[in-house]
Amino acid sequence: MKVLGIESSCDETAAAVVEDGRKVLSTVVASQVKVHHRYGGVVPELASRAHIEKITGVVKQAIEAAGIDKTAIDAVAATQGPGLVGALLVGFSFSKAFAYGLGLPFAGINHLEGHIHSVFLTANPPPFPFVALLASGGHTSIYEVQRCSGMTLLGQTLDDAAGEAYDKVSKMLGLGYPGGEIIDRMAAAGDPGRIVFPRSYLDRERFDFSFSGIKTAVKRYIEDHPESRTDQVTDIAAGFQEAVVDVLAEKLMRAAAARRCRHVAVVGGVAANRRLRERLGEEADRLDLYLHIPPVSLCGDNAAMIAAAAYHRLQAGQREGLDADVYSRVKAPSAL
Ligand code: KG4
Ligand code: ZN
Repeated sequence: MKVLGIESSCDETAAAVVEDGRKVLSTVVASQVKVHHRYGGVVPELASRAHIEKITGVVKQAIEAAGIDKTAIDAVAATQGPGLVGALLVGFSFSKAFAYGLGLPFAGINHLEGHIHSVFLTANPPPFPFVALLASGGHTSIYEVQRCSGMTLLGQTLDDAAGEAYDKVSKMLGLGYPGGEIIDRMAAAGDPGRIVFPRSYLDRERFDFSFSGIKTAVKRYIEDHPESRTDQVTDIAAGFQEAVVDVLAEKLMRAAAARRCRHVAVVGGVAANRRLRERLGEEADRLDLYLHIPPVSLCGDNAAMIAAAAYHRLQAGQREGLDADVYSRVKAPSAL
């Protein structure tokens, strides 16, 4: 079954064709970095407009790159939420119209479920059950994945998401948007041990996160050391990153032990982080676990993950009517 997936929940307009939830025939991601760069973050109204401008071309490109004609598509799926409502509406409405025009089944997909499916697009996906850390700009959650469409929430952030903390620290340091990638690069040149920021582990037996404390600690450090904004940028970035990575790694490994899973996965934009990938690799070796991380191109928002998640939902008979609507809700669902 060839599924055309569409993703427009935030600042990427994306389309992809995926066969049987596993084989990526094409994936096209049009970034809006240039649109939002000068504002230091995503401006929702500008995101919606950019999606409208790009969606037709991106979908056309994805179908062409898959080497098929649109009549070879078996089903259409789009991100239904959570995300920016105006942005979601563009991809969701486009997908409904496309499916209606060709008489195809249509599925609405939860963005978080989509991210977790990015790990099934790798050469050796994890066997069930496994524990997955989803770390992005909007979410930081740990799920136990029992089946393709059966995931149970073990914990989530109580305040900021990990990616959001990266973005905010980047802004504080005057490094701009998109922050995660910039801090990742800066940190590589810094000393992670020179400035030690607090780690918020909360209850060690639980899998919830909190990143607002570290964000405030960085802010206070910069205020107390005004010169640091020019001469300690790489060390602040490295110290901040080390604290975030410590917490993410510890929670994921503890969750794997608690659920007796030998396989762990990391997905979402923050999974692209070089230090996180390196550190989790070391931890997995030490604990004799198998680590699964998608290629960087599938960590950030993309439509292949949406098409992959949709395949299983469609196979199970799920269909969305043309009256279905998007949702902005930000909390991670307790089950997916
Ligand atoms: O999954 P994603 O593309 O969109 C959401 O669903 O939010 O994640 C975007 C987030 C942003 O906060 C961005 O700063 C972060 O992922 N990110 C990174 C890196 N690349 C992107 N964070 C740390 N290191 C990176 N290399
Ligand atoms: Zn995302």
